[in-house]
Amino acid sequence: DKGLYAHYMLKEIYEQPAVIAETLEGRIHKGRLLEASFGHETTALLDKARHIQIVACGTSYHAGMVARYWMEEFGIPCSVEVASEYRYRKVVVPEGSLLITISQSGETADTLAALRGSRANGYIGSLTVCNVPESSLVRESDVCFMTRAGTEIGVASTKAFTTQLVALRLLAIALARRKELSTAQEEAMVNELHALPRQIEVVLQLADAIKTMAEGFVDKHNALFLGRGAFYPVALEGALKLKEISYIHAEAYPAGELKHGPLALVDESMPVVCALPDDPLLEKVLSNLQEVRARGGELFLFSDHKVNVGLDHYQNLTLSDIYPGTAPIVYSIPLQLLAYHVAVLKGTDVDQPRNLAKSVTVE
Ligand code: F6R
Repeated sequence: DKGLYAHYMLKEIYEQPAVIAETLEGRIHKGRLLEASFGHETTALLDKARHIQIVACGTSYHAGMVARYWMEEFGIPCSVEVASEYRYRKVVVPEGSLLITISQSGETADTLAALRGSRANGYIGSLTVCNVPESSLVRESDVCFMTRAGTEIGVASTKAFTTQLVALRLLAIALARRKELSTAQEEAMVNELHALPRQIEVVLQLADAIKTMAEGFVDKHNALFLGRGAFYPVALEGALKLKEISYIHAEAYPAGELKHGPLALVDESMPVVCALPDDPLLEKVLSNLQEVRARGGELFLFSDHKVNVGLDHYQNLTLSDIYPGTAPIVYSIPLQLLAYHVAVLKGTDVDQPRNLAKSVTVE
């Protein structure tokens, strides 16, 4: 039931504070990760893991891409690949590799095939981050780490994505514990997760401003999403949301790649969206955006209050109180809302976009 919401997608966007809290429930307490809640088999697998191979499709793949930045920060080797490529490739599996599949439905044909095909490849085991307890991926994986997003009806994934990120962050903390994570660091990471529902509530209050931003896209045929570091996959996800439901051709690039080709596309009719958090790459991204402005590209920015944008012309929404570790999760929310409002203005079928199915059970 959509209740008071015009679409399931909107309802699901607004459910995120609650389902993220639900996904954290019983897994953290007072600045500590409660690893016992993962189950003995899972912790035993994490003990043995020397390398992580993530395999997933679409939005779930983007969650995996963000997780790679998190894992590598703590010296955990991690690779990420789309399942449709992975399953047909001759893969070289490093010793001590753990296969992690990520899936909302647990029924995605390619992801399931990648899992089945991995058995002969020498993995120490398989873990699935999944939202549907009775799904094939859950049944066939050695262990599972459930997201608790509840049923997701909108074809465009929103709350499943952010709960996947939360689950992956918890797994990253668990793996980091096996490296050099200090108690103080763990406490900071856990408290950041704990703060997420409240932070997202605040971002959701920006909906009217995002609706106004959306007007700048209605008559456009293309859009470019830029990001660097963990915000590159956030840009990919923002572009995927926009193309799926508004049918505007949207592409994401790591901002540093701009001058290697895509800059040629930029003119007055190209909106450019960028998550611009206060992080070590900020100055680099700003100089990339300067290049966009010099070609007349219209900028739609999401930044936080510590950032001085200093460009000549742009639309900006400022988020406050952001922590670097969970910022990719928080910054995903305004991009979901942007795609949603553009689609509504264009009058598309938001919950059932053309040509797409909620669960891709055939290749
Ligand atoms: C995009 C979307 C798809 C799915 C993909 C994988 O909004 O929903 O890209 O993420 O089909 O589905 P799951 O996560 O069920 O394996």
